[in-house]
Amino acid sequence: MTELPFYEPSGNEISLFEHAYRERLPLLIKGPTGCGKTRFVAHMAARLKLPLYTVACHDDLTAADLVGRHLISDKGTYWCDGPLTRAVREGGICYLDEVVEARKDVTVVLHPLTDDRRLLPLERTGELLEAPANFMLVVSYNPGYQHILKSLKPSTRQRFVAKSFDFPPPALERDIVARESSLPVQQCAALINLAARLRAMKGHDLEEGVSTRLLIYCATLIANGMPILQAAQATLVEPLSDDADVQEGLMEAVRATFGED
Ligand SMILES: Nc1ncnc2c1ncn2[C@@H]1O[C@H](COP(=O)(O)OP(=O)(O)OP(=O)(O)O)[C@@H](O)[C@H]1O
Ligand SMILES: [Mg+2]
Repeated sequence: MTELPFYEPSGNEISLFEHAYRERLPLLIKGPTGCGKTRFVAHMAARLKLPLYTVACHDDLTAADLVGRHLISDKGTYWCDGPLTRAVREGGICYLDEVVEARKDVTVVLHPLTDDRRLLPLERTGELLEAPANFMLVVSYNPGYQHILKSLKPSTRQRFVAKSFDFPPPALERDIVARESSLPVQQCAALINLAARLRAMKGHDLEEGVSTRLLIYCATLIANGMPILQAAQATLVEPLSDDADVQEGLMEAVRATFGED
């Protein structure tokens, strides 16, 4: 058997996902950047032995991008399924990442699919597809960047079972960073302490706290020989802010944790 993508749970998310899949309910995952949402979905798809169709949503994404469109070849036009349609036809997980970015017409497609009808109408081909038991829709977004114009309508969000994600608790995050970077656990523990200080600075100056992803970057650079302060500056300070004062505040926390050298 091939190995599952590594995922360390911090709550009931695995069982919630399995329940939702079995009961044929769609799942909504929300949480800050780099906290493990995508990794979790990849892990669950492998665990349930389902193909995974991931779509990164953006503000030009239309219903046709999900459902499919007619294409032209030298033999004439033919229909080409989009990722959502393929998942419904063949079974599998369709994962819409950053779903709040998608255009409004996308919700028209999602609504009949995410209530008890589980139907996908293909207007262009005249088909009406009924989702099989092994189809599941998963969507995610980061509530931190939301503004009024880009939030899910109640009629959309109330079609999902939902779960908030956050950065893993310290001991778990230390182990995740150690495993992903190969930096010794002791040194990872120091990075996690630093992360707590940096995250405490989140507020009007900092949009979002430092992610697990960036901690892994930092640990990887250190594990491969980069001096700690340089690694921290490149991964835990520069990506977080463009403001010199904010950067200096972050660097102070770095030096307070690791000293000046
Ligand atoms: N619980 C976890 N178990 C294993 N690895 C994790 C976990 N949480 C985070 N990671 C690590 O953090 C990295 C970033 O996670 P991921 O890409 O899933 O973030 P995300 O929440 O999807 O972020 P974004 O919103 O920016 O897409 C992963 O590549 C993985 O190495
Ligand atoms: Mg992601």
